[in-house]
Amino acid sequence: MIAVANDHAGYELKCAIIKHLEEKGIEYIDLGSGEGEKCDYPDAAKKACKEVISGKCEKAILICGTGIGISIAANKVKGIRACACSDYFSAKYTRLHNDANALCLGGRVCGVGLACELVDVFLETEFEGGRHQRRVDLITAMENEQ
Ligand code: RB5
Repeated sequence: MIAVANDHAGYELKCAIIKHLEEKGIEYIDLGSGEGEKCDYPDAAKKACKEVISGKCEKAILICGTGIGISIAANKVKGIRACACSDYFSAKYTRLHNDANALCLGGRVCGVGLACELVDVFLETEFEGGRHQRRVDLITAMENEQ
């Protein structure tokens, strides 16, 4: 199950991504916001990240205007590793090396075609573990020190 959330600047891209997930038979929860609904990106990030942390969803796809604000907010949630991506390499390697559990996209940055490719590689790529696990563990330790 994938948690999807957006602010008003991410609404159109969210709709395209949801259509793509449906075509691929991937289950998701759409946590809004809806058409014409103003939404502050930290609230959208919080809603979706909660679903990931509770274990109801394995990953989140978060969309704001740039992908940056919503990633900053998502990374404040303990246990979330969110990455704002607008290129294929980053979307792939944030899974391989960072075990990222939230992909953040910019509705004003990415076209639909690229965004769907980023979603696919993010959802299909497994974490490599090994030496990268130690680094992810260091991030978790930092969170626990706060
Ligand atoms: C909303 O206008 C915009 O600021 C927001 O979507 C995002 O781009 C922030 O990082």
